[in-house]
Formats: sequence, structure tokens, C-alpha cells
Amino acid sequence: MDKKGLFITIEGGEGAGKSTLVESLTKELFARGVPVIKTREPGGSPIAEKIRQILIQGVGIEVKAELLLFLAARAQHLQEKVVPALKVGSVVICDRFSDSTIAYQSFARGLPLEEVETLDEIARSHLKPQLTLLLDIDPEDAFKRISLKGRDRLEKESLDFHKKVREGFLFLAKRDKNRIVLLDAKRPSQEVLKKALEMVLELI
Ligand code: TMP
Repeated sequence: MDKKGLFITIEGGEGAGKSTLVESLTKELFARGVPVIKTREPGGSPIAEKIRQILIQGVGIEVKAELLLFLAARAQHLQEKVVPALKVGSVVICDRFSDSTIAYQSFARGLPLEEVETLDEIARSHLKPQLTLLLDIDPEDAFKRISLKGRDRLEKESLDFHKKVREGFLFLAKRDKNRIVLLDAKRPSQEVLKKALEMVLELI
């Protein structure tokens, strides 16, 4: 790996097991002596985490305001945390990134794809992950994993909303086959980790 680092994103709908994979993948890389950090969106840096609070708990957020808050958090998080880590040659594993914005704000909320993509490009200063692991699962199965009580603002959206999110992710996976690797999130977590680790180690 050169000094440019490696930017990896983990994507998928609610309850797909992203956080577990981020955690275990980071541990495996660390155990192999690979310089690695894990982070998440929205959030990952102090200001972006404050924006996350608004996004997760806020009431009455307009669709366009929601989009711009996700992107504001992204712009801040990238400059504050991701870019500096990549500059020193680290692997950065990020729980969600731009594909989530396309899937949620465009496919599920209905904002025009081109507009969302243009604004997202500005927010991320054209930085793209080298690899995206997409954990795919039917939302009906995924929601069996999340208790009703503990659901946040977006998790509380309808099943139809989450089906559109999945459609969005699958559209992106088809469009960008070189970057996005589809993983079956219904498989045991150890099996998913093994596949993910193989993909990452190939790039290092
Ligand atoms: P999390 O549950 O994976 O921590 O993500 C928080 C929520 O934010 C989740 O419901 C997905 C949503 N989200 C978007 O709607 N757009 C985005 O750009 C990102 C990064 C997350």
C-alpha cells in the first residue's frame, strides 16, 4: 500500500450487520499490523457527531435540509478525520458514505438522483472509496433483528421506504461493479467477515 492509504466503506440497510463488520474487520487488520482506523457517517468527528444528533433525533426535518445536513457532516468528517488518516497511509473503514445518501435521500426520499450526486461530489471533494462492501438483506428479514422500541428516526420509516433504500443500493452495485462488492448479509457473520477480509487484503 502506498502513502495514499485506502478508503473502504461499508454500506447496507438497517440491521444488515454493518457495525459488526466494521468492528471485526478493523480488529483483523490491526492484528495483522495494518495501520487502520474505523469511523462512521453521519458522525466520526466532533462537529459531524453533533449534526448526527440532529439527524437521528430531530423532528420535522425537511427532505432537502436532511440531505444538506448529511452532506455537511460528510464535508466536516472528511477534512477533519478521513483525509488526514489517508495522508499518513492508513486504511480507513467507514460505516456508511455516499451510497447511503443516494439510497436514502434519492431512492427512498425521492430527491432527483443527479442533483443529489452533484451536491454529494461537492461535499466529498470528489474523494471516492476504493472499495465498498455492500451488505444486502431484505428489509423484512433485517427488521426482525431490530427491536421496535429502540428504533431511531429513520429506522421508524415504513417498510416501503426501506425497500426503496435496498433498490437504491442494488442499482448502485450494478452501476459500479468495480468498486462495490455485494455480500449476503443473511450469511453467518464469520463467513461475511472472511469474504470482506479477503477483498481488503487483496488491495493492501
Ligand atoms: P446508522 O444507523 O448506520 O448509524 O446511520 C444513521 C442513519 O442515517 C441510517 O438510518 C441511514 C441514514 N443515512 C442517510 O439517510 N443518508 C446518509 O447519507 C447517511 C450517511 C446515513
